[in-house]
Amino acid sequence: MSERAQFATKLGVIAATVGSAVGLGNIWRFPYMAGENGGGAFLIVYICCVIVLGIPLMCAEFAIGRKSRTNAAGALKVLAPKSQWHIIGYIGILASTLILGYYMVIAGWVVEYIYQAIKDNLFGDSATTIANNFELFKTDVWRPLVWVGALLVINYLIISRGVTKGIEKASNIMMPMLFVILLIFCGYAITLPGAKEGLTYLFNPDFSKIDGGVVLSAMGQAFFSLSIGLGILITYGSYFKRNVNLPKTGFTVAILDMLVAILAGVMIFPITASFGISPTQGPDLIFVTLPNVFGKMFMPNMWAILFFVFAGVAALTSTISLLEVAIAYISEEFKLSRKRASIIILLIVAVLSVLSSLSFSVLSEVKLFDMNFFELSDYFSANILLPLGGFLLSVYVGWRMKKRDFKLELGGNTQISTILYTLILFSIRFIAPISIIFIFLSITGIFNI
Ligand code: PHE
Repeated sequence: MSERAQFATKLGVIAATVGSAVGLGNIWRFPYMAGENGGGAFLIVYICCVIVLGIPLMCAEFAIGRKSRTNAAGALKVLAPKSQWHIIGYIGILASTLILGYYMVIAGWVVEYIYQAIKDNLFGDSATTIANNFELFKTDVWRPLVWVGALLVINYLIISRGVTKGIEKASNIMMPMLFVILLIFCGYAITLPGAKEGLTYLFNPDFSKIDGGVVLSAMGQAFFSLSIGLGILITYGSYFKRNVNLPKTGFTVAILDMLVAILAGVMIFPITASFGISPTQGPDLIFVTLPNVFGKMFMPNMWAILFFVFAGVAALTSTISLLEVAIAYISEEFKLSRKRASIIILLIVAVLSVLSSLSFSVLSEVKLFDMNFFELSDYFSANILLPLGGFLLSVYVGWRMKKRDFKLELGGNTQISTILYTLILFSIRFIAPISIIFIFLSITGIFNI
C-alpha cells in the first residue's frame, strides 16, 4: 500500500482542526447564548465544559485515529477486531453526511450574500425589505441550488487534492484570513459609541441565570463547536505525525475556537447596540440583523463583503472536515482513488442538500415527526447521532481500549505526565458518558431540569 497521507506540519494540524471547529456555531449560536444566559457567568461554565469534557474527548478521538492510522470506521476494526465497536465510525459517517446536507445549504446562502454585496444589491431602504428579501431568496427553488452547486465544486477542488496539498494548504491560508477579518471587525466595533453596552451584555456575569438547563446547553454547544462525536477528529488524528502531542493540540484548538466565539460576540454586540438593533441568533442574525446594521454603517458593502467572506471561510473549512470522514472511509475501505471517492460523496451530499434546500419551498409540507427534511437532518444528526457517537466513544476509550496504548498515544514522541493522563481518563470514563446521557435526555425532551 502506498504511504498514508499526513499533515506536514504542526501548524497545519492546528489550522485544519481549528478550521473544523470554527464554524457557523461560533458566529450565530455562541455569542447569543452567552449574552442571554448570564454573560461572564456563562463563559465560566462554558470554559469548564470545554476543559472537563471537550478536551478529553478530543484526545480520545485523536488517539483512536493516530493509533489505527485509518478512517473512522476502519479505525475501530483495527483496534477492536471481532467486535461491534466500529459502529462508532458508521454513526460518525452517517451523522457528518447528514449535517453536510443542511450545512452546505446555509453556506450557499452565505455565498449569495457575498454576491449580492458585491453587486451592491443587499441593502434595501428598510429593515422589512431586508427580512423580506431573505425570505424570498430562501423560498426560491433554483437560486439557492446554484450556490450549493458552486460550493460542491469548491469543496471538490480542495478536498480532491488530498490531505496535505488540499485540506492543510487551504486551512493554512483560510484560517489566518479568518482571524484577520475578525480582528478588523472587533477593532472597529470597540470604538463605537455602543461598545460599552454591547460588551457589558456579553461579559457582565449574572450567576442567577445559571441553572441545570444552561449547563446542559453549554455542554451541547462545546460538543458541536469542537466537532466531537462525528469521527472528524478520528479521521484528522489519523493524519497526525507522532511528534504531535494530543492534549496540547486539543487544548490549543479549544482555546482558538473559544477565542473566535468570544470575539464574534465582541464584534456583534457593540455594533448592534450602537445602531439600536437587538441582537438575534441563528440564520436571522447573519442574514437579517447584521445586514440591517451594515446598511447603517459607513461603506456598508465593504463591511458586508468582509463579514460574509468571514462566515463563508468558517463554513467552508467545516464542510471540508465533514466531507473528509466519508471520503477517507470509502476510499480506504473500498480502495477507490481519492478523486473518485470525493465525487461519490459529493454526489450524495448534493442529493441531501437539494432536499434540504427545497424544504423551504416545494418540499416544505413534506414532514416526518412534524419536521421537514432540513429540520429532520439537523435534529437527527445533532441531537441523536452526535451524542450517541460521543457516548460510545467515551465508553470504548474509557473502558475497553488498552490503557497503555492510550497513554502512549496521548504523548506521541514524548511522555505525558501521569497526573494529566489520570485526569483525562477520569473524564472519559465517568464525566463524559454521564453528562452525555443528561444532554441527550434533555435535548430530546425526555427529561427536563
Ligand atoms: N464546529 C462547527 C461549528 O461550530 C460545526 C461543525 C459541527 C463542523 C460538526 C463540523 C462538524 O459551527
